[in-house]
Amino acid sequence: MTPDILVFDSGLGGLTVFEQIASLRPRATYRYVADDAVFPYGEIPAERLVPRVREVIAPHIEARAPDVIVIACNTASTLVLPPLRAAWPRIPFVGTVPAIKPAAEQSRSRLISVLATPGTVTRDYTRDLVDSFASHCEVELVGSRHLAALAEDHMRGVAIDEDAVAREIAPCFVTRGGRRTDHVVLACTHYPLLLDLFRRVAPWPVEWVDPAPAIARQVERLVLGRGFPAGDVARFAAGGEALFTSGREPDPALLRRLESLNLAPAGQGPK
Ligand code: DGL
Repeated sequence: MTPDILVFDSGLGGLTVFEQIASLRPRATYRYVADDAVFPYGEIPAERLVPRVREVIAPHIEARAPDVIVIACNTASTLVLPPLRAAWPRIPFVGTVPAIKPAAEQSRSRLISVLATPGTVTRDYTRDLVDSFASHCEVELVGSRHLAALAEDHMRGVAIDEDAVAREIAPCFVTRGGRRTDHVVLACTHYPLLLDLFRRVAPWPVEWVDPAPAIARQVERLVLGRGFPAGDVARFAAGGEALFTSGREPDPALLRRLESLNLAPAGQGPK
């Protein structure tokens, strides 16, 4: 008996979350759904984004009733979790939301930054996290318009203009009265794909906070809670299929990446 786990994102960023989940829970059947037909989500207004995510996910729920659904997208999670939970109350949804709490707890300088899409930085959800968990810190909310697309290019092996990356992350680096930013929250699942570049172009070293390992632990808790056995991590290779709403054939670089994650490209979802 293996759990059925659906991992959803606007594009390829959710693969950074999938990788963590699959390494903790290899004994599962995975379906990775990327809404690349309308990627990026970063500047889509809330009133369009909520119905879009529902529309893309609904057929997968009807077809397979997944045991857990992971919304591996901060831009979507900060909006759609309540409507999704209301629509499908029996399915556990795990969201990906900015890891402001751990960053604020660990920061010594009390200057932290949240690097996210333009949508995520404007959400009430994000502002509430700041008020609830980081009131002792100064928090810089940095909305980047280009990083998600740059991350996809980087993953596909396209040469990236490092100056463009440096410009996007520059507002995260703040100095104030002898203190400087020491934690930057990666509040978009695409951004860990660029971590090597971030480290290279950062004006000074910081902790880059990626919540994916914590999300994977949460998924594992839910799966165990639904009665699935823990399984032997060494004995099973996670696998499944990847679906792209655009219907476009994945290019060779993406195919290689999917293959390394044991995901096979499959049919097509709604356009
Ligand atoms: N990966 C998504 C996130 O975590 C968003 C990327 C986009 O579609 O703009 O926010």
